[in-house]
Amino acid sequence: MLYDVIVVGSGISGLFAALYAKRSGGNVVIITKSNPFRSNSAVASGGINAVIHVSQEDSINKHITDTINGADGLTNEANISEMCKDAPNIIAELSKIGVKFDADDDGIIKQRPFGGTSSKRTCYIADRTGSAIVQNLLQQCRKEGVEILSNHQLLNIIKFNDKLAGITLLHREDSHVTAFACKALVLAGGGYAGIYRGHSTNPQESSGDAIAVALRAGMRVSNLEFIQFHPTTLKNGSLISEAARGEGAYIVDETETRFTDELQTRDKLSRAILEHIKDGHKVYLDFRHLSPELIETKLPSTQKMALNSAGIDIRTELLEITPSAHYTIGGIWTREDTSTDLEGVFACGECAATGVHGANRLGGNSLLEGAHFGKIAGKEAAKRAQKVEFLPIDFAQVNKDYRRVKMILEDESHFNINSMRKNLGETLFKEVGVYRDEEMLINALEYVHYLMKNQYGLHCVNKEIHNNVELSAILEFRNALVVAEAVVLSAIKREESRGVHYRTDFPERDDKFFGMSSYVKKIGQNFLRISFEDDLLEKFIYKIKTYFKKL
Ligand code: FUM
Repeated sequence: MLYDVIVVGSGISGLFAALYAKRSGGNVVIITKSNPFRSNSAVASGGINAVIHVSQEDSINKHITDTINGADGLTNEANISEMCKDAPNIIAELSKIGVKFDADDDGIIKQRPFGGTSSKRTCYIADRTGSAIVQNLLQQCRKEGVEILSNHQLLNIIKFNDKLAGITLLHREDSHVTAFACKALVLAGGGYAGIYRGHSTNPQESSGDAIAVALRAGMRVSNLEFIQFHPTTLKNGSLISEAARGEGAYIVDETETRFTDELQTRDKLSRAILEHIKDGHKVYLDFRHLSPELIETKLPSTQKMALNSAGIDIRTELLEITPSAHYTIGGIWTREDTSTDLEGVFACGECAATGVHGANRLGGNSLLEGAHFGKIAGKEAAKRAQKVEFLPIDFAQVNKDYRRVKMILEDESHFNINSMRKNLGETLFKEVGVYRDEEMLINALEYVHYLMKNQYGLHCVNKEIHNNVELSAILEFRNALVVAEAVVLSAIKREESRGVHYRTDFPERDDKFFGMSSYVKKIGQNFLRISFEDDLLEKFIYKIKTYFKKL
């Protein structure tokens, strides 16, 4: 197949990218491996930030300032400024295509407070904002002629003379490997919090495929050590949206005492909760003072989730919570126009590092980031597609993926995928969690290496060709290991505490040596280079150490 623009991913950034690419002309396809309603965008329930009523209380400048202050450094201020300025347009555009934000009787969109913001700035649809947005964008994409291919899993980027030529994919319906040629590629494949299996709000599928593919293609990834833990999740990782605290729920302990500020930023709140748990307490969300009417109208999904997953009626009972991995700040390095360091490839959404979240993201800013940079990526990809010709597809690269898939399907398995990915999640949560230190990180690295060694004994027990979930899971797991190794190496090298990266052996922020982004890049076939440099100046300022590690 030949496409002008291929977009990988069907969350908010991929959907916006596809729409904007299509509007600029050419044929555009969205490739998505599973149900778009399982994306992290659909899970982001609490809302999307935008200043839509400029007043004494709020302004676009305050949105910019809050985002910068919450980020704890490492921000790209130009990107933040553009994103915050675009936010009202995005809300208007979403409303135009049918997203019904909660509004008062006069049609004025309501807004709720979220952590780390100086005003009520989060627009919402009860506590199911992300899924409502995804649903409307999907319909709009279909209406405007974007082709959507679900059940297709990205395997690798095909290059010709160090430029994009196309991609290889697994068609899950019958397990065949195929190649699509394209003139521009938008990676919008989501983040990697799913590698914390068992301790993540994300589905298993969100395990960093796009980032692993980028690393294999020799692209730079950045700031992978910054993993945001959502402070209020159930023990199994199910998300209890920040909407709960935005609507006034308290955080209390077993004595029903409030012990922390519920609307501080997520990094600080997660640490406050874990400190309290370490001191022997249990921590709960308390909704009992909220009116049943407010719960029914503004928190219906939360009410259902608590009942179905924990057997708790939040109107009358306390809901026990703990932090879980939720959002990954790092990703594929991008310029301000979303281009990456591989010509023809653009990245946006959670899989991209745009610098708008710095070292800590404010809730409600990720849907905004996805929409804003998705628009830019779509326009830029279409612009490129109009200028260049298709490049030849190297079938040796396709054949390599074909053989890899065939081997995973046909060879005898010595290990169990479920226990391996669960053990990876447990290890990462324990050793690369809210708190880390060198010893913990080295433990994690050794365990990742142990799994890497064993992954080649991991094959399908079930040899079914059609929709073989085990095959997909093994491919995802291999990607998860590539990402996990890069995450742990970046966390080892960042010897300071900043935002969501908290090193107990280096508890202070250290701007002198670490006030800059980290980068990981594959060098040749066998090495990873970890470095720190200031990408705003586009030059090498300080190099901590160059860490060579066999991939
Ligand atoms: O808590 C939430 O609803 C999540 C929102 C977000 O991550 O932006």
